[in-house]
Amino acid sequence: MAQQDFNMEHHWLPFTPNRSFKKDPRVFVAAEGMHFTTHDGKQVLDGISSLWCVGAGHNRKPINEAIKKQLDTLDYATAFQASNDQAFKAADMIAAMAPGELNKVLFCNSGSEAADTALKAALAYHRARGEGHRNVFIGRERGYHGVGFGGMSVGGIPANRKVFGAALLPRVDHLRFIHDPVKHAYINGIEPEWQEDILLELENRILPLHDPSNIAAVIVEPVAGSAGWYLPPRGYLKRLREICDKNGILLIFDEVITGFGRLGTGFGADYYGVVPDMLTFAKCVTNGVIPLGGVICSDRIYGAMMQANEGAPEHAIEFFHGYTYSGHPVACAAAIATLNLLKEEKLVERAGQMGKVLGDAMHAGLKGLPNVTGIRCLGLAGAVELASIPGAPGKRAYDIFISCFHKGVLVRPAGENLVLAPPYIVEQAHIDQMVGTLADAIRQHA
Ligand SMILES: Cc1ncc(COP(=O)(O)O)c(C=O)c1O
Repeated sequence: MAQQDFNMEHHWLPFTPNRSFKKDPRVFVAAEGMHFTTHDGKQVLDGISSLWCVGAGHNRKPINEAIKKQLDTLDYATAFQASNDQAFKAADMIAAMAPGELNKVLFCNSGSEAADTALKAALAYHRARGEGHRNVFIGRERGYHGVGFGGMSVGGIPANRKVFGAALLPRVDHLRFIHDPVKHAYINGIEPEWQEDILLELENRILPLHDPSNIAAVIVEPVAGSAGWYLPPRGYLKRLREICDKNGILLIFDEVITGFGRLGTGFGADYYGVVPDMLTFAKCVTNGVIPLGGVICSDRIYGAMMQANEGAPEHAIEFFHGYTYSGHPVACAAAIATLNLLKEEKLVERAGQMGKVLGDAMHAGLKGLPNVTGIRCLGLAGAVELASIPGAPGKRAYDIFISCFHKGVLVRPAGENLVLAPPYIVEQAHIDQMVGTLADAIRQHA
C-alpha cells in the first residue's frame, strides 16, 4: 500500500508529536510473529511488544480463532444485572494465576480504567468498614497509572500532569523516586542494594503529615515502566507492604506492564514475593489484541463490601461502578486463549530466560557508548539512559528512536531512555539485531 492511499488529516495520534509524524509517518498494515509490515512495505522488528502488550508475538492463531468463534457465538451481552460465560471463565483463570487472596476480578477495558477502578474500590472499601475519612492516596514520583483523573493524580510524570492543574485529585501525595543514578546506574538482573532506607520518608514525613488514619491506599508499579524501567531497591516492596499493614492502608500494585509474564513470573507480585491488596492489569492479558483490563481484589476487600450490605434489600448494589464493556465476552475469550497459550508454550518462563540474554546483550553492546549514562535490565525488558541534550530534554532519545525505526527496529523512547521489551517469543538473533541497531543509532547521534 502506498502512503497516499490513506488520508492522515483526521486521526489525532495519542502521545505523539502529530506535526512531525505526518512528515515521516510510521504506519503498520500487517504483523506476524516478531515483525510488522509498514505501509511502504518495510519489515520492522517489534522491540517493545507494541507497548508491552504482545507477549506471545503477533497474529497468534489460537487467540484469533477464539475471537472469531466467540463473535459467532455471543458477540456481546449487557454487563450490568447479567453477565456472560466468558467473563466468569476468564476471571477464574486470572484469579487462579494471581498470588495469595487476590481472587475477585473487576473487569474494565484499559490500564487507565483499572487504576481509577482500584482507587474507587479503595475508597468504597474503607467507607464500607466505617472509615470513610480514609481518602488520601499516595503514588510515587514518575509513576504512571494512565490518563484518567485518578491515575493522573497518583501518577508522577510531570509532563502528563502539568496542564491539568486544579483538576487533579486534591488529597494525593507522592513517594520519592526509586533511582540512584550514581550508585545504581548499571543493573543487570539483580535488585539494587541501597544503604539508605528510602521508605523512611513515608514513615517519618508523609504518613505523619496526613495522619495515617486518613490514608486510603498507596499505589506503585513494582517496576516503574513508563518512566523508563526503573527497579525498586532490594526489600522496598516488602517494607512498603509492612508499613501499609501497620497503618491500615491498602497497597495497590499497578501491574499493567509487569503482569502476565514480563519478569518471568506470573506477576511482579510473584517476582518480589509481596502480595498487594489490589493488582491492576491490562495489555498482555489479551496479547494486546482486544482491549481488556481489570483489578484483582483480595477476598478481604470483596468480603467487606458484601458484609456492609448484609441486611440490605436483595436488590441493593454493593459497588456503584462498572463499564458497559466490563467483561466483554470477546475480550474475555481472547484473554482465555492468551492465558492458555502462555501456559502451553511456557512463555512466562521463556520471558525470564530470554531476559538474561537481553540483559547481557544490552550491557555488552551499549555500555561505554557515547552519552550512555546507565543501563537497567530485569526480566525481559531493559532501558539504556542517555545524557540529556542541554535545553532539549528527551530529544536525543527521540532522535535515536526515529533512526532505529528507519533501520527496521521499533524501540521506545521514555524521557532520556530507550527501552527494549520484546515479545516473549524473541530469539537471540532478534536481540542481537535490536541491540546492534540501537548501538549504531546511539553512535550516530553522539
Ligand atoms: C503501569 C501502567 N499503568 C497504567 C497504564 C495505562 O494503560 P492504558 O494505556 O491501557 O490506559 C499503563 C500504560 O502503559 C501503564 O504502563
